[in-house]
Amino acid sequence: MARFPGLLAVAAACVAATALAEVGAGGAADDPRIASAWRVLRSVDCARCHGKTYDGLAAPSIVNYAATQNRETFVRMVLDGDPPRGMPGYRSNPYVVERIDDIYRYFIARAKGELGPDYRAPTPVERQ
Ligand code: HEC
Repeated sequence: MARFPGLLAVAAACVAATALAEVGAGGAADDPRIASAWRVLRSVDCARCHGKTYDGLAAPSIVNYAATQNRETFVRMVLDGDPPRGMPGYRSNPYVVERIDDIYRYFIARAKGELGPDYRAPTPVERQ
């Protein structure tokens, strides 16, 4: 019985957090489109070659690339890739194509330090 109000408070906090994420009240960290882009990057596993935080591993840093290239060059690189040098093109992946602008925005936010390497998208809430 004593636990019940506590559970309600937790539930209310979850609802509040979800509403905030949807509105995108804050900066990049609260932007639901950047959160979706981040999830796409995770599911495609760019990290396998570019490192856990995309700062470079076997393949170069995507954060640096976004910081030094224009949007068009960035988009072309991700969609067309550079197959002879080991970078696959993602034009046939509808999730990447659909989110390409937000993927670019995620890396720009990383390059500007608006998002740290430890940024994690909030867990999406199931809808009924
Ligand atoms: C199988 C390994 C692999 C995966 C998976 C991969 N990449 Fe790459 N990527 C590379 C390699 C290797 C290069 C370097 C190509 C070159 O030198 O031209 C590269 C280059 C790039 C560059 C240009 C960086 C530079 O400095 O030239 C960008 C941007 C990039 N990848 C983004 C992505 C994104 C976004 C994803 C996921 C959607 C991804 N990559 C997945 C291997 C990979």
